[in-house]
Formats: sequence, structure tokens, C-alpha cells
Amino acid sequence: MNRFDYFMPTKMVYGQGVVREAGSSLALGQKALIVTGRSSARLSGALDDVLAVLPGEHVIYDEVENNPSVDTVMQGGALARKEGCDYVIAIGGGSPLDAAKAMAVLAVNDVHALDLYQNGWETRALPIVAIPTTAGTGSEVTQYAVLTIEDEETKKGLRGPDLFPQVAYLDPKYTESLPLGVTRDTAVDALSHLVESYLSKRATAASDLAALQGMALWGTTISALRQGTLDLEARDALLLASSLGGIAIAQTGTTLVHALGYSLTYYHDMPHGRANGVCMQAYLDYTMGVAPERVKTVLELLELDSVEAFGELMDALFIDEVGKIELTAETLAAYVDKAMQTNNIKNSLGDPVESDLSKILSASIK
Ligand SMILES: [Fe+2]
Repeated sequence: MNRFDYFMPTKMVYGQGVVREAGSSLALGQKALIVTGRSSARLSGALDDVLAVLPGEHVIYDEVENNPSVDTVMQGGALARKEGCDYVIAIGGGSPLDAAKAMAVLAVNDVHALDLYQNGWETRALPIVAIPTTAGTGSEVTQYAVLTIEDEETKKGLRGPDLFPQVAYLDPKYTESLPLGVTRDTAVDALSHLVESYLSKRATAASDLAALQGMALWGTTISALRQGTLDLEARDALLLASSLGGIAIAQTGTTLVHALGYSLTYYHDMPHGRANGVCMQAYLDYTMGVAPERVKTVLELLELDSVEAFGELMDALFIDEVGKIELTAETLAAYVDKAMQTNNIKNSLGDPVESDLSKILSASIK
């Protein structure tokens, strides 16, 4: 077994009603910057629960878009500075959670967000409370914040130990208001975290513990995801599987699937989870050639009897996908080139080279 460190400093509070039960302990300071997207924090009831019990002052930034931009996090950081906020409450899916983390840094480091990628940051980020309303990102228990970088035409992750939220409140009822399409897209993001972590070069005994349990839990939701009949029990399992995926990738990072998926999202507007999902069958085919036992374990836990059955599941979940993407040879090569420059590639088993990625991507878009 590899030597490893295990670091996961986020306190998780899991169950129905946990935000209201937290009461005044929800506050980590005197004045909160509450960061949300445009609707899910309100629709889910999470924002109401927070406002019902939160002591002290707060200011709300509710303009986070899907795949948040550098401009957005600059605005939120400036607002927190101007208002004198001393902690951040992030409510929503991956986009608000990741944007809130970057704002927590910028609130106390008056620099351009792009500088953070080059030079890191000096002052520790404000403490963060994370309340997810989707079951997918896992960001509530990771040290990552992924932003869209227009200059580089891709998504790119910041990382730092202070980006782990101090506390994550996980209530499956907040995911009940999600439309089926978003539920499936985000669920497949969670699955890709679990599978990629388990198939990462950096997998450890501790990350495997989370990934194996997460995949088994995710597997229990397959028929509900297929049929679109997600009751609270299925949502409970998905939310926990998603957080386990976050705990796993906090240790290992993601792999070539996320590296390829970023271009499908940036250039084709494909939701993040779906972009990963369409690459998964070809990725498992490739990995079967270099780590067959691990791939077989993934399939067993999901109760799928082959990689083809995995691909059929992804197709079934994304049935409302309109049309298939067509890429010219030049475009495909450009996406592969972009993916090769990421750190995610180095985590992939089998040391994939450009020709491997080309094969995987062209098989994925069919
Ligand atoms: Fe992801």
C-alpha cells in the first residue's frame, strides 16, 4: 500500500433539518457574505432556513452563474471587503460553492483573481460554511474551486487548504426541488468523482474507503435515476455518495475524464456532469487495459455486468441530449492538447498519451 496523508478538516453535519437545528452556531463570525446562484438557494428552502436562524448581520450575493467567471468572483470578493464580512455562507450547487470559495480568498486578498492561479495568496481565506443543494459537486468537502477562465477558454481549479469549508450542512431535502435533468447531470458528476478517484494513481487506503462506499451507495439509486422517480431515500443516498466523492477527490484529484470534459462544457455548453458521463465508457474501456481488477470492482459495486452496460446507463440518463457533437480532426486535437496540459492527466492510471486521449474522446462523441 502507498504511503499517504489524509486531510479532511471539514466538519460534516448530515441529516434532515440540520440547518435550523444548528441555530446560532451557523454563524462563524459577525457578518456573513451569503453566496448563492439565481434560484436554487431560494427554491430549495435552504436560504429561508439560513435566514431563519442566522444571528448577526449578512449581505447576499445571488448572481453566481453556471460555470462562474473571474468577474463574478471579483465582484463578490469586493462586496465582502466593502461590507466588512468576516465569513462566507455558500448555498447551492457546485457553481455557487466554488465561486464562494474564491470570494472568501479575494475578500482578504486585494488582488486580481487570475493572480491567484499564478502566485497563490498570502492571507488565509475567510471561513466558509457550505450548504449544497445538488448531489454532485462534493465541493462542500474539498479544497478546490473551479472557475471558467475566458482567456484560456477552459475551466481551471484553484486549490488550497483554506478552501475546505469549515462546516458543511447536508440536508437531502434541499435536493428535492431539482429538475430531473439537473439531478441526473449532477449525480453523474458525483459518480465520476468516485470512479476517477478509485482509478487514480494517487488512490490511497483512505480515499478508497470513501470511493468504495460512495459507489455502492450510488448503485442503489440507479433504477430511480433511470425511471426519474427519486424519493427522499434515493436523494439521501445520492447526497451522501456525492460528499463521499468529494472526500475521495480531495485526496486524489480527478483524472482524464474531467480534463476532457472541460472542453465539452466550455465550447459546447454541456453540463459538467454530463460532459464527464459521455467520456466514461471509453475511459473505462481504456482503464480496463491497464487496471482490470479496479474497473471490475467499479462495475460490481454498480451491479453492472460490463463496460458496455455502463455506457448504456449513461445513454439512458442523457436521453434528452439533443444531437451529438461533431468535431473536426483539428478541433479534437485541440481539445486533447488542452487536456494534456492539465494536472488531472498525471493522475490517470496507464500514463495516457495524446493518442489515448484522442481515441477516448472520438469514441465518446461517436
Ligand atoms: Fe466534477
